[in-house]
Amino acid sequence: MARILITSGPTRQYIDPVRYLSNASSGQMGRCLAEAALERGHDVVVVSGPVQLEYPKSCEVIPVVSTDDMLSVCQEIFPNCDGLIGAAAPCDYQPVEVADHKIPKTGDTLVIKLVETPDVVAKLGSGKKPGQWTVGFALETDDARFRAITKLERKSCDLVVLNGVAAIDSSDNHVEIIAPGGQVLQIVQGSKPLVASSILHLIQERLMQESDQV
Ligand code: C5P
Repeated sequence: MARILITSGPTRQYIDPVRYLSNASSGQMGRCLAEAALERGHDVVVVSGPVQLEYPKSCEVIPVVSTDDMLSVCQEIFPNCDGLIGAAAPCDYQPVEVADHKIPKTGDTLVIKLVETPDVVAKLGSGKKPGQWTVGFALETDDARFRAITKLERKSCDLVVLNGVAAIDSSDNHVEIIAPGGQVLQIVQGSKPLVASSILHLIQERLMQESDQV
């Protein structure tokens, strides 16, 4: 049995007390991965941004709001986990300044200066202990496979799951599961539970120590 950390859903970066930047991630892929891991007898911790869905009762769920929150919770939990599946779509930018009051409309253009948020998968990947593994996702529109492989390397992932924009808020997905070096191990098309099951199967086969396999 392995202990698996799964990041899921979007994060929010507030601009003022009522407005925020985010994305359309529903958390469905994260929930399906949690279910697939639990079905295989693993222990699952989900760190999730704000979503409308419920995660399985038998996993521990830690709700977070911002990308910084997601990173700090994951940094606490990951040292006691065997692996990470980064299925979240953390917001990549945050405002340089967050207004403490609702920004009033003036009829003029509003310019907001943004800086990048930290990359959760990359930070955890760079601090991996021997035996720990990380799996990232890549959602790409152009040069998809090349960009996914570049992300796998930059984020020190052991596998990357490439999907397209059709995956967002959909019950189906079409993915390529890619290994370091760029080898496409499997192409899966179908429901998110089916895709999640294939991902878990490959993780068990390629990344888990024999003692963690169920
Ligand atoms: O946003 P990007 O396409 O680079 O995301 C690819 C992978 O990196 C996903 O696994 C996602 O969960 C992760 N990621 C992250 N923190 C970010 C941005 C992305 O963990 N700030």
